[in-house]
Amino acid sequence: MIILGIETSCDETAASVVKDGREILSHVVASSAQMHIETGGIIPERAAREQVKSIIPVIEKALKDGLSWNGQKAPPIDAIAVTYGPGLVGSLLVGIETARTLSYLWNKPVTQVNHLAAHIYATFIHKVQNSKFGIQNQTEPKLPAITLVVSGGHTDLVLLKNHGGMLWIGGTRDDAAGEAFDKTARLLGLPYPGGPAIATAAEKLKIKNGKWKIRLPRPMMDEENYDFSFSGLKTAVNREIAKLKKENLWNESFVDQMAHEIQESITDVLVAKTLKAVEQYKVHALLLAGGVAANQRLREKFQQKISEADLSLDFRVAPPWLCTDNASYIASYAEYNYHPVSWKDLSPNPSLTITQV
Ligand code: KG4
Ligand code: ZN
Repeated sequence: MIILGIETSCDETAASVVKDGREILSHVVASSAQMHIETGGIIPERAAREQVKSIIPVIEKALKDGLSWNGQKAPPIDAIAVTYGPGLVGSLLVGIETARTLSYLWNKPVTQVNHLAAHIYATFIHKVQNSKFGIQNQTEPKLPAITLVVSGGHTDLVLLKNHGGMLWIGGTRDDAAGEAFDKTARLLGLPYPGGPAIATAAEKLKIKNGKWKIRLPRPMMDEENYDFSFSGLKTAVNREIAKLKKENLWNESFVDQMAHEIQESITDVLVAKTLKAVEQYKVHALLLAGGVAANQRLREKFQQKISEADLSLDFRVAPPWLCTDNASYIASYAEYNYHPVSWKDLSPNPSLTITQV
């Protein structure tokens, strides 16, 4: 099938055309991130207003880039896929109302997509047309697989038994991994989004070959469950900053050290618990997904531990630009989990969880 994907759950407005769930024909992402940098985070109403402005040009560009379409009649697509949750309600509505109108106007089926479950399908995409970004994997990952979905609002460990069959085995009890990056970055005076900012600061320390004195906790790392808790990290960072300031020791160089240790702490916990799940469920594939999967250190650490433990594990993670929010994995998910609904029945579900279809 040729599917037009539409994604507007947070601050991105994205549209993609994807063939057979694996081949990207076009990929367009407009972000209001610059605006949120100025405010230090997302203001939901401002995000939705920006999306209202960009949704039609973004979809038009995706259709023109990916298909030979002159813009007059209905485009040559088989279906429309749109994110219906989780996310910000105003933002979700922009995508849903657009998809509803296009489905009616073009007389094309529409399928609603769970954004979190869809993140996983970035690892199924293996071809990009007309692009400098090549994707190496030529085969699909074999299921069952353990999947770790780490995004700004969610951290979930899931056993993906087959398409549509997911078993949730653990997740965060408080802050998500991305949220921990974002909140601790803010404490350090680094810009939003915090993940890339912390990664860049941590890299500076590596370049300078710095010696670090700060040690942060690895919350719940050795507990016999698959749950996570990252809110204590924020408190620990706050305490360290206060201590250094009291001793008049706080200076710029501590920002890089702290960033390094925050990244080490979050990635240590994610890797340890995920690999424990891989062993217990005896799967042959591990799929890493969500915005935090763009983190280079996390990817390296998984690769290193897998090779050290000599696990014959098929480890898949998409290129960073496919890990953060976009519409290509929305369309890919829809191919593998195709449940068209009437345009009349589309409605947003801001608090959807990963296993809800
Ligand atoms: O999946 P995503 O793009 O949006 C949501 O669905 O939430 O994830 C956004 C999250 C943010 O918390 C951001 O700080 C984090 O992903 N992130 C990263 C990196 N790039 C984005 N975290 C760590 N390292 C990165 N390179
Ligand atoms: Zn996301």
